[in-house]
Amino acid sequence: MRTTAVAAVMVMLCGMTVHAKVKPQKDFNLQRFAGKWYRVGLAYDSPRFVPYRDKVKASMGIVAPLPDGDVNLTMWDATPFGCLTKMYQYEKTNVSGQFTYFSTTHNMVKDITVVETNYTDYALVLKHKVFNREYTQVALYGRTQRVKNDVIQKFKTFALSRGLSRESILTPPPAENCPPAVSGQSAAAVIINVATDLITRNSNV
Ligand SMILES: *[C@@H]1O[C@H](CO)[C@@H](O)[C@H](O)[C@H]1NC(C)=O
Ligand SMILES: *[C@@H]1O[C@H](CO)[C@@H](O)[C@H](O)[C@H]1NC(C)=O
Ligand SMILES: *[C@@H]1O[C@H](CO)[C@@H](O)[C@H](O)[C@H]1NC(C)=O
Repeated sequence: MRTTAVAAVMVMLCGMTVHAKVKPQKDFNLQRFAGKWYRVGLAYDSPRFVPYRDKVKASMGIVAPLPDGDVNLTMWDATPFGCLTKMYQYEKTNVSGQFTYFSTTHNMVKDITVVETNYTDYALVLKHKVFNREYTQVALYGRTQRVKNDVIQKFKTFALSRGLSRESILTPPPAENCPPAVSGQSAAAVIINVATDLITRNSNV
């Protein structure tokens, strides 16, 4: 009996640590966060994702801030079926560096927190549904396809602190030809131009 009670308390305490509120990057600046990123790290514990672990590649993404503070994110995912483009719309919240979006895959609203970024090199992003590890993802984004070792360590430590398992923490290799060399780059260039245009217009206001 007693052991069970102790165990139950332990579980509760651990749960509280794992779900402690994560603060976003202090003074988060969306304009500096805009542009191209590579997802060089991914931690995701969903059982349904396990068979795909060794197939994951470092996807490229473009963050395009919208005038109202929302964000359009375009990702290029290298999959066995080819290079797929996915669009996400992140809605701003009243906390800078924190967004929400509706996941069509899981049919639920998720929170996106930019936990830490220095804008020029890396960004640590937590995507979660409060209190549900199965839907929690930690991603490490780099401005280039390789990031420094201390950044990788930071990512791993953070993912473990969120209760993700060691096996779930991946640092996938670069994607090849995704986005495709020619059309992909021009698509990316168009989006960057739109983003830059919006930034310019915003700062003129
Ligand atoms: C943002 O995404 C929406 C929906 O995909 C699209 O209609 C809109 O043109 C995008 N805006 C920008 C500035 O990229
Ligand atoms: C931000 O929004 C949340 C949820 O809508 C609300 O509980 C909180 O009081 C708001 N905070 C501020 C500072 O407006
Ligand atoms: C950003 O982080 C990288 C990796 O830790 C570091 O090398 C770089 O100096 C940082 N840049 C700034 C502006 O702090």
